[in-house]
Amino acid sequence: MLTFSEIAAMQACPSDWRKAGERIALVPTMGNLHAGHLALVERAKQLAERVVVTIFINPMQFDRKEDLDAYPQTLDEDSEQLQQLGVDLLFAPEASTIYSESLDTTTQIHVPLITERLEGASRSGHFTGVATIVCKLFNLVQPEIAIFGEKDYQQLLVIRKMVADLDIPVQIESVPTVREKDGLAMSSRNGYLTRAEREIAPHLYKTLLFLQEELSLNNAKISELEHKGIEMLRKSGFKPDYLEVCQSDTLQPAKPEDTSLVILAAAWLGKARLIDNLSVNLKPGA
Ligand code: PAJ
Repeated sequence: MLTFSEIAAMQACPSDWRKAGERIALVPTMGNLHAGHLALVERAKQLAERVVVTIFINPMQFDRKEDLDAYPQTLDEDSEQLQQLGVDLLFAPEASTIYSESLDTTTQIHVPLITERLEGASRSGHFTGVATIVCKLFNLVQPEIAIFGEKDYQQLLVIRKMVADLDIPVQIESVPTVREKDGLAMSSRNGYLTRAEREIAPHLYKTLLFLQEELSLNNAKISELEHKGIEMLRKSGFKPDYLEVCQSDTLQPAKPEDTSLVILAAAWLGKARLIDNLSVNLKPGA
């Protein structure tokens, strides 16, 4: 596996691969890799001849400096895992390589509407940071395909919209959420949990499963179920940020006649802010 931190050196390989007619799949990450990230790499390998992974803790998408400073950095272990999976190229630049000027004066990509609710409402500027870095990585690597996790469902929709609106010639593929045995969605932030909090953490997914079941049985109004879900999280020991049933493509609040839904939740557990989501497809007229 080739590893680069500088742009010009990194770009030579993808350029040669493109000339040889090989397709390139990009997997953007912030590192501290776990089985969720590795599932994206496996998918990339199925879809393209060459796989590029980026590890970049993007300062522009962090709304709290403490969160940025505490974000785990494990480049050596990450690199070892990617090497073993047969990744072709790892690009792990410094922030000063990616942003040559201050974040306030550099061009930013704002994706409207879908970024205003849920994660966007809780984390000001977060999705502008995500859209900007993903667009820059697309321009730097120029992949045919890019892979993202459904774990960050709203992020996936933001990227799909940016690509559609700006005619970016990259095919976006998604991979279902990879979970621990007890249902907890894998996340770099799970490392912040104490042993006691780790026991509680799977209740986030359990709450989503309960709501999924209730929605399929049409047992109660959506607003009542959201309320119930928030109460369940509180009782388990979480401080819920949001729990909402949304239309799966727009993330607007679900209406009673909608059949393609997604339940999205974010909740604090000690120092960790956990997010998760679960799709619900109802039979029309049920
Ligand atoms: P990061 O949190 O490192 O996640 C990188 C990719 O892995 C994202 O597409 C995310 O959805 C996916 N992922 C994380 N946990 C997963 C899980 N349990 N199952 C499946 N996929 C999972 O998301 C980011 O970084 C950044 O915002 C980024 C897109 C790299 C832009 O900076």
